[in-house]
Amino acid sequence: MNFHRSEELFRRALARIAGGVNSPSRSYAAVGGGAPAFIARGEGAYLYDADGNRYIDYLAAYGAMILGHAHPKVVKAVQEAVTRGSVYGAPTEAEVRMAEAIHEAIPQMELVRFTASGTEAVMTALRVARGYTGREKILKFDGAYHGHSDPVLVSAGSGSSTLGIDESLGVPRGVAQDVISIPYNDTEKLEEAFSRHGNEIACALLEPVTGNFGIVEPTREFMEAVHRLARAHGSLVIWDEVITAFRFQYGSIGQYFGLEADLYTLGKVIGGGLPIGAYGGRKEVMSVVAPLGGVYQDGTLSGNPVSMAAGLACLEALREDPGLYSRLDRLAAMLAQGMQEAAHRHGITLSIGRFKGALSPFFLPRPASHFAEAEQAPSGHLARFFRLLLERGIMTAPSKYEAWFISAAHTERDIEITLEAVDDAFRQMAAEGYR
Ligand SMILES: Cc1ncc(COP(=O)(O)O)c(C=O)c1O
Repeated sequence: MNFHRSEELFRRALARIAGGVNSPSRSYAAVGGGAPAFIARGEGAYLYDADGNRYIDYLAAYGAMILGHAHPKVVKAVQEAVTRGSVYGAPTEAEVRMAEAIHEAIPQMELVRFTASGTEAVMTALRVARGYTGREKILKFDGAYHGHSDPVLVSAGSGSSTLGIDESLGVPRGVAQDVISIPYNDTEKLEEAFSRHGNEIACALLEPVTGNFGIVEPTREFMEAVHRLARAHGSLVIWDEVITAFRFQYGSIGQYFGLEADLYTLGKVIGGGLPIGAYGGRKEVMSVVAPLGGVYQDGTLSGNPVSMAAGLACLEALREDPGLYSRLDRLAAMLAQGMQEAAHRHGITLSIGRFKGALSPFFLPRPASHFAEAEQAPSGHLARFFRLLLERGIMTAPSKYEAWFISAAHTERDIEITLEAVDDAFRQMAAEGYR
């Protein structure tokens, strides 16, 4: 494989784009540096870079591309929408249909608002929780990533932990003082936080299955405790389902736990690959949002007609394929088992965090259950694994904290080819002394 064109593009990018990338998660800084593969085109389960190299894609745009790339239905919807104009500054029927589709899938989202990104959705949901409760403190979990608004960058995960920036510069001390961050899956710390600050906590914000320090499932006890304690103290629960909603089943993953949140935030999958975010919940809570109430949120591109068209097409394609989620689950299980066996064959310590169609390799004896455990995985192992896979045509995230996503376009043959590459990569790593 050669990467000459990507290297050339990266040189130019470095001159004019801070760090050469528009999202630090795309940087290869944590995997030895150098030029990331610049992508020229995506089709189904594959990405093609600027040098013409083909990759089986498990990045899936960090979970957004559940149908694979350039799905014909989504492409057609986008083409049709854009010929009618791409933004008007006035409402459209597509927003209404999208809000109805979201409500049908997640009945707790009685009122919804669309934004242009998941970051905006979470940022505003926090404001809604604060406006509704009249309280200021937010409870979140260490290493969780909820976009890049100020409060959620306190002990943040994903790209920020990949680059060792768990506390971003530029977040005012006053903002950080109102954020309580504790370990995920730690019921004791949760009880302590509520018993100390219960009547000041506006909301608990969490991913119902974590996707940003690897795939980590909450224990049932922990999930129930979050809800019980929040209710008991008059705090709201926000489920950040930017990754999880429509990714693991059609709608919220909440049904899986038999619990309900007060507010939900969505993004990624619901935009079919175009910029989107959404937040919503019970009418009573959402009635604080302007022009109904005094919590302000706006946006030139909120509910953008092209994003709505892509999202509607994506949701329709998901509905038309009832076997999809169990297929993703089965392929992910096949991939996880094969990886585990390959690691075992070559004497490499590996465990897999998996929830349905998403998984993450941890170079640890056991999958992590909270961020501090995920942190212990040796970064060098993931960096080497990432490179060896890339050179073998497998695209994954350049970070030990990110997940692999199976899409509707992946086939069993893709998984087999991936497992051959994984076996080869582990053989090489073993020869180099990795254990
Ligand atoms: C759980 C979660 N919340 C929020 C966000 C932010 O979404 P966006 O990147 O669309 O701003 C992300 C993005 O990765 C996410 O994973």
